[in-house]
Amino acid sequence: MTDIAILETEISTAIAGAPDEAALEAVRVAALGKSGSVTALLKTLGGLSPDERKVQGPAINGLKDRVNAALNARKEGFKGAALDAKLATETVDVTLPVREAPAELGRVHPISQVIDELTAIFADMGFAVAEGPDIETDDYNFTKLNFPEGHPAREMHDTFYFNPKPDGSRLLLRTHTSPVQVRTMLKQKPPIRVIIPGRTYRSDSDQTHTPMFHQVEGLVIDKTAHLGHLKWILEEFCKAFFEVDNVKMRFRPSFFPFTEPSLEVDIQCKRDKGEVRFGEGDDWLEILGCGMVHPNVLRNCGLNPDEVQGFAWGMGIDRIAMLKYGMPDLRPFFEADVRWLSHYGFRPLDFPTLAGGLSA
Ligand code: DAH
Repeated sequence: MTDIAILETEISTAIAGAPDEAALEAVRVAALGKSGSVTALLKTLGGLSPDERKVQGPAINGLKDRVNAALNARKEGFKGAALDAKLATETVDVTLPVREAPAELGRVHPISQVIDELTAIFADMGFAVAEGPDIETDDYNFTKLNFPEGHPAREMHDTFYFNPKPDGSRLLLRTHTSPVQVRTMLKQKPPIRVIIPGRTYRSDSDQTHTPMFHQVEGLVIDKTAHLGHLKWILEEFCKAFFEVDNVKMRFRPSFFPFTEPSLEVDIQCKRDKGEVRFGEGDDWLEILGCGMVHPNVLRNCGLNPDEVQGFAWGMGIDRIAMLKYGMPDLRPFFEADVRWLSHYGFRPLDFPTLAGGLSA
């Protein structure tokens, strides 16, 4: 075997045995680099006679070309293997179900959803949303609403009071959303058309009462607003909210210090094994209190009862949420249990709209 043939076998074996690209590069340098074995052979050509060169020249150059070709082939092989490995680790199984993104996992609390539903319905009737603080003065929560000092109606509210201030006055946690009526009338000139959703507090707790609960108040003040308008608004609201074509409502005389006359409203329903259905049956369910705003309240808020009049109503939000979505117990509403929330909560992008459907 010639020296060239021996060298070629050695180099071929080294190329075939190189485990990675770095080892292959070392083989290339050892053969074709400045002081490589093939390069050394090429350098000997200069010192040969023309006849010897004719034989050795093609032989050594042929060796160089074959070594180059073998190196390139092995290099391509490494590249292909790297790509195959990459493709194998990055395969996507398009038949797998899509994982829920974090934003999709969160749920909107039924109370928030119901407040959005209420707002959509009343916004469609031209109502704005008004808000007030949870911590109120006795004046706004009671006195301006025509609860005289020492009046027994104050006792009905089981009020949470703060410690008295040096001047003897006491702040309290508002017992209803009605003080925001006062705030609105003091701030805004009639015509007024607002709804007031918010938190309210009373010292009371059982299956259907929690110390914190939610109400939505409505207030309309202009020159001619009357009980006929109120009745229509409440009927339209109930139909839209409970998503039924017909609701029978019953207006019963009642008493609230801030309205005259005062009424309580029941809706017709059917109770069946703990389930309540609307628009049928012959049971009645009380859902709200309402009435014409008392002239004393108008006066207390700087309005002249000979010039303006209006009506108001107050409704428990938790109650109507329980009814609409079939939630039997009020207490889990406020327990922050994610299992309850993932069952009863709403998807974050399911905005209730009248056009798209409230609870669709
Ligand atoms: N504030 C009353 C309550 O919490 C509910 C209510 C009754 C509100 C009649 C009103 C109304 O605006 O006119 O029991």
